[in-house]
Amino acid sequence: MPVTECVGSLYPRPFDGNLKSLAGFTPAIGASVNAPGTNGCEGQRATVERDAMASSLRDILRPLPSFPDELPTFDVNAAPDDPVALFVDWLTEAIDASVLAPHAMTLSTSEPDGKVTARMLVLKDIDDRGWVFASRDDGAKARDLGANPFAALTFFWPQMGRQVRVTGAVRKRPRTEGEADFLARSEGSRVSAFVGHQSEPLESLEMYDEAYAVAAARVAEDPSLVTRTWNTWSVAADEVEFWQASRDRGHIRLKYRHHGHSWEHGLLWP
Ligand SMILES: Cc1cc2nc3c(=O)[nH]c(=O)nc-3n(C[C@H](O)[C@H](O)[C@H](O)COP(=O)(O)O)c2cc1C
Repeated sequence: MPVTECVGSLYPRPFDGNLKSLAGFTPAIGASVNAPGTNGCEGQRATVERDAMASSLRDILRPLPSFPDELPTFDVNAAPDDPVALFVDWLTEAIDASVLAPHAMTLSTSEPDGKVTARMLVLKDIDDRGWVFASRDDGAKARDLGANPFAALTFFWPQMGRQVRVTGAVRKRPRTEGEADFLARSEGSRVSAFVGHQSEPLESLEMYDEAYAVAAARVAEDPSLVTRTWNTWSVAADEVEFWQASRDRGHIRLKYRHHGHSWEHGLLWP
């Protein structure tokens, strides 16, 4: 039986744009299609459910705006020679525009076998060694970077219609810097670091609570405690790309490449 014959009854009402009502509606699709001997569509239940969800989700996603109507301009002719200066300008503008977590970035790493993974981190600083982040030294990202010390950082400031992509070699920074960063963290964050086992399978939330309580007692007893597993790294950028959305023309892309001791930059087709 063609899927359309089964699907005819799956849309008793137009989708109202509310994801919750879609969630409530879906089991009913399965129930009606799956009723034995009623419509012969049993074998197609999974496909029909998936298609119904997919087309509804597509309908929800298609009109979603990515950027506001008003966007900042990007005068590429006034771009500085150094991408760090432009990055700090854009970051400052994002902070001033009250973008939530303007310092949040995606760190993408890979292993030698080519498997790529990404996660959010916060930017700690930028200095002459590069873009700085802090994390555990015994987790997945540290292992990735140990095997392949190259990474990509991606920043996205939706309200500004701006993305910045940074790639480069990653270096672990001296332990003293990791310690200083650790002691500047909130008590809760320091306790979490002492719990350990990050990214390992966890049997239950209760197990975590018990480990957290033990770590919290240690930190309360000695607030100057520093875990040896906290470190800082920097990404020494070799390429930095600035992307500015535009409503009335093509988006603007400006890419910086590091050559020797200086930077050169040029436009990219959007
Ligand atoms: C907005 C945001 C910021 C985060 N910042 C950090 C951070 O600065 N350092 C960190 O280790 N994890 C941070 N995390 C958690 C990481 O995304 C990740 O879950 C954790 O570092 C484990 O990653 P890994 O298993 O790939 O090593 C942050 C998560 C979010 C959503």
